[in-house]
Amino acid sequence: MHASEIESDLTKVLVTEEQIDAKLEELASHIDADYAGKDLLLVGVLKGAVMVMADLSRHLGHNVQMDWMAVSSYGASTKSSGVVQIRKDLDTDISGRHVLIVEDIIDSGLTLSWLLDNFASRGAASVEVCALLRKPDAAKVTIDCKYVGFDIPSDFVVGYGLDFAERYRNLRDVAVLAPHIYTED
Ligand code: XMP
Ligand code: MG
Repeated sequence: MHASEIESDLTKVLVTEEQIDAKLEELASHIDADYAGKDLLLVGVLKGAVMVMADLSRHLGHNVQMDWMAVSSYGASTKSSGVVQIRKDLDTDISGRHVLIVEDIIDSGLTLSWLLDNFASRGAASVEVCALLRKPDAAKVTIDCKYVGFDIPSDFVVGYGLDFAERYRNLRDVAVLAPHIYTED
């Protein structure tokens, strides 16, 4: 699905499909180099990171393992509640493993900060983060994110896995959601 098909819901395209692909290829080459000779476990955070995981992992030369976790800190709202709940835990024992968390976006950073503590307590050998998008102006906690795709303004964005009330995930680009879609009057 392309942004032009739902133009009235979006204010602008922020990152195009082509820009995303080029960036993921670049990040993948850094990840390949950094983890040379090591076993790597990619952990995708459901559901938003599905597209990033699919495309990033296929740019890797590494034969990685994948696992998924589902946490929620957002309801149908556009603001983080700061309360993180595990909806689906890992299937993998990460003790002694090199883990790379794959995320769609770092907004307040609260979700990742919680996940990083949680993974550290399970005894991972290393935990790093790869996020396609980051909103530097929205940070409430500082996250040491080793691989970042794009720093973007604090507007609510959708597409490429990111949703508003479960819609727009299959948009190929990342676009800014028009405020009239989510503000009540
Ligand atoms: P925090 O604030 O904890 O948020 O860093 C992390 C999670 O919140 C979701 N999120 C968004 N989802 N458009 C979305 O569709 C956005 O602009 C946005 N900002 C945050 C997302 O699931 C992320 O993993
Ligand atoms: Mg997410």
